[in-house]
Amino acid sequence: MKGIILHGGYGTRLGPLTLSGPKQLLKIANKPMSQFALEDIKNSGINEIAIVIGDVYPEKVKKYYGDGTNFGVKITYVFQDKPRGISHAVGLCKEFVGDEKFVVYLGDNIMRKNLNEFVNKFSSSSHDCMILLSEVDDPSRFGIAEFKDNKIHKIIEKPKNTDSNFAVIGVYFFTKKIFDIIEKLKPSWRGELEITDAIQRLLEEGYSIDYERVTGWWKDTGTPKDIIHANKLILENQEKQNQTEINKNFHGNVVVGENSSLSKDSLIFGPVKIGEGCEIGPDVILGPNTSIGNNVILKKCRVENSIIMDDCKIDGKISLIDSIIAQNCEIIKDNKQERQLLLGEFSKLKL
Ligand code: TTP
Repeated sequence: MKGIILHGGYGTRLGPLTLSGPKQLLKIANKPMSQFALEDIKNSGINEIAIVIGDVYPEKVKKYYGDGTNFGVKITYVFQDKPRGISHAVGLCKEFVGDEKFVVYLGDNIMRKNLNEFVNKFSSSSHDCMILLSEVDDPSRFGIAEFKDNKIHKIIEKPKNTDSNFAVIGVYFFTKKIFDIIEKLKPSWRGELEITDAIQRLLEEGYSIDYERVTGWWKDTGTPKDIIHANKLILENQEKQNQTEINKNFHGNVVVGENSSLSKDSLIFGPVKIGEGCEIGPDVILGPNTSIGNNVILKKCRVENSIIMDDCKIDGKISLIDSIIAQNCEIIKDNKQERQLLLGEFSKLKL
């Protein structure tokens, strides 16, 4: 089997974080979100992967993943000029796929369960497609699968009324038959070739579609709230690190990278992940559910349930909660009343 990771789209719901790069390179628990997809695909035994890149700084994706050697896979890049829909992006990979079966993984989806079992099942089955389903509280936000006699009967995008709460998650298995279907699709009201329409059409044309329920969590990280939640879920499951004597002020699962210094008067409540070369303290309270990237300086502040990416500096008596700070940001708070601000387009500031 082969793998496809979708790395296009505009990520408008994550503005301003997506002004300087594609959303799938934003780090969650100090790792670009699409790397979770790549590792999941690789660990299932697939080593030929196409990454569909869009027109939001695609060179950053190429620079990070290269030809895949550093990640133990072989990467082919496929360019999508505009976000014309998930089906459109898949359609561009026809030549890459050839005659093989393949899995499509949305680069902003993270799944707790390994792909392994699903890849084995699909590769040895005679089905034309397999989708993964996860129970959700709010079906009106998702593509929903409806059932009749235990078989998938219909796929509906964001239904207002439905008895089903099984969302189709962003990991799909196909054979090359999907390409004929995609060629026949028409753009939806939002001008995109929808993946739910392609699957619905497979059903209507009598192709056989299998499904599996995903146990454990699954996250579509399209909004800041989703990213913060995914960060918490990943940190809760991070591998514990051996604690050294400096860590009397650590409570819970705290992982610290090399060459990071922590002052003795700072308190850290796990789960927390701190990258390399950081300077934490004096008087810092960190966590829970917080990721700190590499080379970050934190002084006198409190950071909770947040992500601070690489090369940031936060200095001053300030509490950051539920926040995402992209790399190279500086927040300085002195005792003066006046504020000097330097904010880029779409900045969000809550004081
Ligand atoms: P979406 O989250 O539906 O779209 P988006 O990333 O543009 O975000 P927003 O709605 O906030 O503007 O996309 C789901 C995934 O599929 C995501 O990883 C991006 C990818 N994608 C493509 O690669 N090409 C496309 O044409 C589209 C629509 C999405």
